[in-house]
Amino acid sequence: MTEFRTIEPATALCGEIIIPGDKSISHRSIMLGSLAEGTTRVEGFLTGEDNLATLQAFQAMGIDIRRTGTTSLLIAGRGLDGLREPEDVIDCGNSGTTMRLMTGLLAGQKFFAVLTGDQYLRRRPMKRVVEPLAQMGARIAGRQGGEQAPLAIQGGALRPLEYVSPVASAQVKSALLLAGLYADGETIVREPHLSRDHSERMLQWFGADLRVFDGGVAINGRPRLQGRDVEVPGDISSAAFFMVAGLVTPGAELLIRNVGINPSRAGIIDILLAMGGHIELLEQRKPSGEPVADILVKASQLRGIEIGGALVPRAIDEFPVISVAAAFAEGTTLIRDARELRVKETDRIAAMTTALNALGATVEAHDDGMTITGCERLRGGRVSSHGDHRIAMSLAVAALNCAAPVIIDDTACTETSFPGFWDTLAGVTRRAPRKPQA
Ligand code: S3P
Repeated sequence: MTEFRTIEPATALCGEIIIPGDKSISHRSIMLGSLAEGTTRVEGFLTGEDNLATLQAFQAMGIDIRRTGTTSLLIAGRGLDGLREPEDVIDCGNSGTTMRLMTGLLAGQKFFAVLTGDQYLRRRPMKRVVEPLAQMGARIAGRQGGEQAPLAIQGGALRPLEYVSPVASAQVKSALLLAGLYADGETIVREPHLSRDHSERMLQWFGADLRVFDGGVAINGRPRLQGRDVEVPGDISSAAFFMVAGLVTPGAELLIRNVGINPSRAGIIDILLAMGGHIELLEQRKPSGEPVADILVKASQLRGIEIGGALVPRAIDEFPVISVAAAFAEGTTLIRDARELRVKETDRIAAMTTALNALGATVEAHDDGMTITGCERLRGGRVSSHGDHRIAMSLAVAALNCAAPVIIDDTACTETSFPGFWDTLAGVTRRAPRKPQA
């Protein structure tokens, strides 16, 4: 029996919250800290299941990584050639980032490794990294001709590549940049729109020879990376649930502290502002090369908009909760150019369309997006996360504004990216007192 939760409607939402660390930046801090020479101290590390999978993978390759506090780490980097062959298969759990980035990194090692994952990750497409890596000379085998994990990687010498990626994917770009660290010469990756650029920023922070240009990025192989301090900001993808909750719950006001607002990730802010949301960015600052702010949101009447093009990769993980915002907006919202949502932890177009319609919304799925007609309140009912953390949390936000309670099936998955989500939500939610039983 998988875990389920019942979420009652909210009468108000108010207070201050701290969001756990950014998942993408936390993964990269382990990887680059391990490949650097000397010590890397990480503060604000996300201890979600995905990041712990990355941490254990590098420990399995001989890196000394110590937890020095709840969210702090000390990594004793061993340099570009300091990893050791793991004795066993590496389990990436549910984490696509762990698997795809490590495939790039392992392609250039002098040893053999096998990557696997849970039932969801083993269904996700891997050729998007396996094929360009093969062009660099990598030897990688996997199920379905290399499309699905487990992936077996026989590391070896790599040649640089100039690659035009058909998708705007930070995982593809980052896998090739990590492989590029091991190739003699310049590896260039171009993408149709800019995807999140945390790898570029952190590689530069650690001293890599990397150049960003309009439409792409180039990296020179065989740099000497130096251990650095990394301050991980709160994850805007986790803050997004509270931003939407604070906008759609009548009378709400929430202050969300210490959130990363890197422009390549902050599409959610632009989208919610365009929908008429009241959002203020306070105390803007930039530790460790990543911009950060406190975000204040106040209940607002949202209106439907059209979302597509370059905005899509800048908000790629936020579409489940954007569809919830749209369900409470005046008029119609059209999401297009978002076919990538079909190959995330689950098919997020199908999962959100089914769940929102079950709660009483009017949603139509398209091949590359969805059309959502808003209403004031949803009905309530029973829905499933399909084991996808972001679907579970988005449905919890929808539940705040329903006429009746919502039962969400399969909720343990929120541990993937947001440990403590349910307590954080309960801490700011006000509910009508229960009527005494007759
Ligand atoms: C991530 C990139 C995105 C995103 C994922 C994390 C990363 O995937 O959806 O949650 O850390 O690089 P794609 O690069 O496949 O779009």
